[in-house]
Amino acid sequence: MIIGLIGFGKVSKNLFNLIKSDDITFITSIEGRSKNTIQNINDSGILVCDTFKEVACKSDILISATSPKSALDVAEVYGKFSNGIYLDLNNISPDTTLKIDSHVKNMVDGAIIGKIDSENPILYVSGEKSEELLFLNEFITTKKISDNIGDVAVLKLLRSSYTKSLSALLIETRDLAIKYDLEEEFFDVLALTEGDDFKDKSLSRINNTIASSKRKNEELEEIIDYFDGVELIMVKAAHEKLNR
Ligand SMILES: NC(=O)c1ccc[n+]([C@@H]2O[C@H](COP(=O)([O-])OP(=O)(O)OC[C@H]3O[C@@H](n4cnc5c(N)ncnc54)[C@H](OP(=O)(O)O)[C@@H]3O)[C@@H](O)[C@H]2O)c1
Repeated sequence: MIIGLIGFGKVSKNLFNLIKSDDITFITSIEGRSKNTIQNINDSGILVCDTFKEVACKSDILISATSPKSALDVAEVYGKFSNGIYLDLNNISPDTTLKIDSHVKNMVDGAIIGKIDSENPILYVSGEKSEELLFLNEFITTKKISDNIGDVAVLKLLRSSYTKSLSALLIETRDLAIKYDLEEEFFDVLALTEGDDFKDKSLSRINNTIASSKRKNEELEEIIDYFDGVELIMVKAAHEKLNR
């Protein structure tokens, strides 16, 4: 089996390292890529084709892991050359996922949940063809959600609306605790019900949110746009909080 990779960043590199089998050959291309990506490709020892068109033609599974902005473009340009499964792993909206589906033959809507370089990232997939990817369970936990393209994309938005709203609330309550000089006690009482690692997890969540508040806020805007007409009081409040 041949797995083709379009994009060779964190996601693809980790998949390449996780999925090791004598029956699977990975291919990619350096066509038009940056110095950094070319270096990563050369260091990895992956088989390199002259063009991404060649990668698409040869692959039984073609994985797109590039960037949210280029996902649709990549599908439009290379999707038509692929007769195998087209697995999109980009962080894109359900609308973009459906547009991509109209450009490729055997679309699978996918998402890596959890950091790709964490101990056990989970690959969620949906779409009629997603069943055919369950063999990946041997290498990375792979869960099929449904036969519907777009279900994984919506699930990502639901997860994102919960985690980002929670982060905004955490920032606010922790600031209040600091104001009353009760930060340590605040984490201690919550750990009683939320678990021993509550403080570490919360601080990591808070720091992550503050460090990338612009991107997180853009993601909240996407959620508000996508679920237009639905009551989203908490998400909108989180958006306002992160704006300040
Ligand atoms: N990192 C995670 O934990 C994670 C988890 C879930 C989902 N995702 C999603 O997965 C995708 C990839 O993430 P990443 O962390 O691997 O990103 P990354 O480390 O920034 O790598 C992106 C790779 O895609 C390449 N690329 C960009 N545009 C391309 C194009 N038009 N054609 C071919 N290659 C192109 C880049 O090459 P150049 O260097 O030449 O630009 C780079 O090799 C993103 O959409 C991200 O939202 C990431």
